[in-house]
Amino acid sequence: MAGMPLTAPPPTRPIRPRVLYFGTPVAVLSTLNADGSTNLTPMSSVWALADRLVLGLGDDSQGCINLLARREVVINLPDPAQQLAVERLAPTTGRWPVPDDKAAMGYRHEPDKFALAGWQALPATQVRPLRAAECPLQIEARLLAAHACPPGTGDAPGVQILEVEVLQVHAHEAILRPGGHHIDTSRWSPLLYVFRHYFGTGLQLGRNFRAET
Ligand SMILES: Cc1cc2nc3c(=O)[nH]c(=O)nc-3n(C[C@H](O)[C@H](O)[C@H](O)COP(=O)(O)O)c2cc1C
Repeated sequence: MAGMPLTAPPPTRPIRPRVLYFGTPVAVLSTLNADGSTNLTPMSSVWALADRLVLGLGDDSQGCINLLARREVVINLPDPAQQLAVERLAPTTGRWPVPDDKAAMGYRHEPDKFALAGWQALPATQVRPLRAAECPLQIEARLLAAHACPPGTGDAPGVQILEVEVLQVHAHEAILRPGGHHIDTSRWSPLLYVFRHYFGTGLQLGRNFRAET
């Protein structure tokens, strides 16, 4: 009969994981500080649909404060070769003074995140925050809507779910298929963040029936 398992299903048990980062691309957000400089925020709670991106940010991060206040962002997408640069940014914040709870987790203030990452800052075309030149994909966007989620139980922080509209996409020419607007997936793949561990992607398994290349 349809749906009848041939073997016993794998056993499961309820768990309470501290994070549910089951695997999303790392992005590094450029946002505008109050003094006009650009802050970089490594993050991974991001997805895209049509010309919208949805970002999840802790409301104690400088990136979140900047995006809510000045409503512009560049979503820079590194590739797996940039894992060490991302991890150099990881224990830092643009916040000053560093909030007590972030300091207790080991974060320190870093005013020049481009220098720390070893990345060049490039002007964007539609927004004020600077792009990270070394990231092969850079997406300029503006904030459309913000949904505040208050702190949860235990040490769960307050978060903002932020909807942004894509204004401009920049790609390194080296990752583009000749003459077109398609990304050559043999030349670019995301850096993935899986339960706080970094991964690249493995071998290609196949293609969707609507893939154009
Ligand atoms: C790979 C990676 C993924 C992260 N993902 C997120 C995320 O999705 N949302 C978030 O708020 N913080 C995330 N963080 C933590 C922020 O980077 C951290 O809070 C940082 O201090 C923010 O910097 P800022 O305060 O200068 O914005 C992530 C960190 C790393 C290294």
